[in-house]
Amino acid sequence: EESPVSESIPQSGSPELRLLRRIGRVDPDSLDDYRAHGGYAALRNALRMGPAEVIEQVTDAKLMGRGGAAFPTGRKWESTASQPVRPHYLVCNADESEPGTFKDRVLMEGDPFSVIESMTIAGFANGCAKGYLYIRGEYPRATRRLANAITQARERGFLGRSIMGHEGFDFDIEIRRGAGAYICGEETALFNSIEGYRGEPRSKPPLPVEEGLFGKPTVVNNVETLVNVPLILTEGGAAFAGIGTERSTGTRLFCLSGTVARPGLYEVALGTTLRELLELAGGVGDGRELRAVLLGGAAGGFVRPDELDLPLTMEDAQEASTTLGSGVVLVFDDTVNLPAMLLRIASFFRDESCGQCVPCRVGTVRQEEALHRMVDGKEATDGDDLGLLREVGQVMRDSSICGLGQTAWNAVESAIDRLGTLSKGGSA
Ligand code: NAI
Ligand code: SF4
Repeated sequence: EESPVSESIPQSGSPELRLLRRIGRVDPDSLDDYRAHGGYAALRNALRMGPAEVIEQVTDAKLMGRGGAAFPTGRKWESTASQPVRPHYLVCNADESEPGTFKDRVLMEGDPFSVIESMTIAGFANGCAKGYLYIRGEYPRATRRLANAITQARERGFLGRSIMGHEGFDFDIEIRRGAGAYICGEETALFNSIEGYRGEPRSKPPLPVEEGLFGKPTVVNNVETLVNVPLILTEGGAAFAGIGTERSTGTRLFCLSGTVARPGLYEVALGTTLRELLELAGGVGDGRELRAVLLGGAAGGFVRPDELDLPLTMEDAQEASTTLGSGVVLVFDDTVNLPAMLLRIASFFRDESCGQCVPCRVGTVRQEEALHRMVDGKEATDGDDLGLLREVGQVMRDSSICGLGQTAWNAVESAIDRLGTLSKGGSA
C-alpha cells in the first residue's frame, strides 16, 4: 500500500505543474481544503455555460484522450451528448494496468476531489444520469480516498440532486473495483464487468457512445483526460490549446521507470523532447550507457539512443513507429537483458489474453514459445522462428477482437526491427 511515487515527483527545477499542481499540497481528505485550492470553480463555470458551451471549450482545447488511444475528447463528448436514447452513462476508466503506468494512481491518491469534480462536469456536459468510477482492485488507498471524496461531495451538495443549486442537474457516482484482470480496462470488457458478466471485450461497432454500458450511450474517459477539463473551463479552451504543440495540446504525465537515476512521475508540455524528459529524471546515471527506451508500454515501441530528440507528441511518436500510449517511459541501460524483457512482455500478454478469440488466445502462446526457442538458441524444426513470429504477429494484429491481441506483437516487432534484438546477426 505504500506509495513511493508521490514522493518522487520533482517539486523544484521542473516546468510549471498543472495536473499535479495540488499533489502533496492539498489535503486529499478535505473538501474544504480542495475548495481553498480552487476546487469546484470549474464546475461552477460549467453550470453557468451549459453543456453545449462546455463541449465547445473542450473541442477548442483540442484535448485528446490520455488513456492511450488519443481520441479527440470533444468529438467523443459531442457524439454522446447528441444521442437521443436515455439514460446516458459516464465511465471514468481508472483501471490503470498498463505495465509501467502509475499516473492515474498519483492523481487519485493525491487529488481525489479533482477526479470527482471532473467526472461531475463530464456528466453534466454529456447529459449522464450516473457515473461509474471503475478502479483497479490493487489501488486500495486511491479507492478509500475517492470513496471519502464522494461521500463528502454528496453531503455538501456537489453530488446528488440539484448540484450546486442547479435545478435539474442530478448526478451521482458509484465506485466499482476491478479484480486483477488487465483486460477489464478495455472499455467494453469493463462494461461487461460492471454488468456482472465475464470481463470479455465486445465487438466494436457499436461504439460505446451509441451502445455502451447497459446498452445505453456511454462516454468513457481516462482519469488524466478528465482532470484536464477543469483547467480548460478555468482558463478557456483556446488558452489551453496554447500549451504544447499545434496538434498535441496541453501537458502530459509521463511515468519514468527502469534504469533512470530518479524514476517517478513527471509532467511536461507536449512537444518536450524525450532527451529533455530523461534529463529531468537524471538520465541513466552511474556512467551507464543508454540502450533503448520503450515508449507507450508493452503495446508501444522502442526508441534508440540516436533518436532522443523525438518531440513527445502524438504525431511525432507515430512517425517514429511508436506511441505515447498512457505515458509509459521504460528506460534500459546496457546492463538490461532485452530478450528476457521481451519474454516477460510475451508472457504477460499470454497470461492476460481473455481467450475469447482464436488469433489472440493461440497467437500469444505461439509468440511466447517462438521467443523462448530463439532466446534459448533452439531453432524451430524448419529453422524459421522469426518468420513464424512475424506471421503470428500479423494475424493477431489483423484479426483479434480487441486492442490486446492487436498490439501483442508491437514491442517484440519493434525490438527486432528497430534495435536488432534477436534478429540474425543482431545484438541482444
Ligand atoms: P480505440 O482507438 O478503439 O478507441 C479509443 C476511444 O475512442 C474509445 O473510447 C472509443 O470508444 C472511442 N472512439 C473511437 N472511434 C470513435 C468514434 N468514431 N466516435 C466516438 N468515439 C470513438 O482504442 P482502445 O482500444 O479503446 O484503447 C487502446 C489504447 O489503450 C492503446 O493505445 C493502449 O495504449 C491503451 N491501454 C491503456 C492501458 C492503461 O492502463 N492506461 C492499458 C491497456 C491499453
Ligand atoms: Fe480476448 Fe485477446 Fe480476443 Fe481481446 S484479442 S477479445 S483479449 S482473446
